[in-house]
Amino acid sequence: MSPNITLFIENDYEQLSRKAARIFADSVRTNPVGSFGFATGGTPEGMYTEMIKMQKAGEADFSQLTAYNLDEYFPIEPDHHQSYEYFMANKLFDAIGLPHDKRNIPRGDAKDPHIEAAEYDVLAIGSRIQMQILGIGNNGHIGFNEPSDYFRGATGHVALTQSTIDSNARYFDSPDDVPRHAITMGVKTIMMAETILLLASGEAKAPILWDALKGLITPLVPASILQMHRDVIVVADNAAAKHLAAV
Ligand code: PGA
Repeated sequence: MSPNITLFIENDYEQLSRKAARIFADSVRTNPVGSFGFATGGTPEGMYTEMIKMQKAGEADFSQLTAYNLDEYFPIEPDHHQSYEYFMANKLFDAIGLPHDKRNIPRGDAKDPHIEAAEYDVLAIGSRIQMQILGIGNNGHIGFNEPSDYFRGATGHVALTQSTIDSNARYFDSPDDVPRHAITMGVKTIMMAETILLLASGEAKAPILWDALKGLITPLVPASILQMHRDVIVVADNAAAKHLAAV
């Protein structure tokens, strides 16, 4: 493993979630009013639950930070039950008492997604994100940067691949309801975060996690670019890390 990547292997999803929440809280403690990057998806949910517990127990204060989310479907109404704005409000932000003006998420109801993306990019880069939480898609995507023949640099309006649409269909009433596009922070924008906190859970992620951390750096596996980042913390459970641990 490259020396810029620190890998923590936890027994199971619960321990992974606790570990990730503690690492994140330690970072926030150094600068409670700093900017931090958030992710949606099934993987960080447990971490967010742990953060809420820490906030309520007075062990950490996440209420003063400024949040920047990676991505949002497009188009989608912000109050749609599958929008990422709704996800973050319900899974974390409301419970930690984060004021609405500190929640930055690309707007799924913007008039022009390209202008929205360009404005969001300026905002996210200007904020100097201290720690960016990431999940990894089964196809190696980070944010909604899908496998491609080039690394998408800036935040942009992107088409989702069939694999991502299929994977996210579980959250919608019908696969036809999954939006086909999104606004996502670009790879360059993500790489500008001071520290990356990458989470991976479950056996299904084991091959792609290996590809990302030990394989060729290629836009066909967007997460592989993280090998070039100066400070990556990976928290995986045994199942997701099984190929990594074997090497
Ligand atoms: P998941 O998604 O956490 O629901 O597996 C990860 C991702 O797509 O980034």
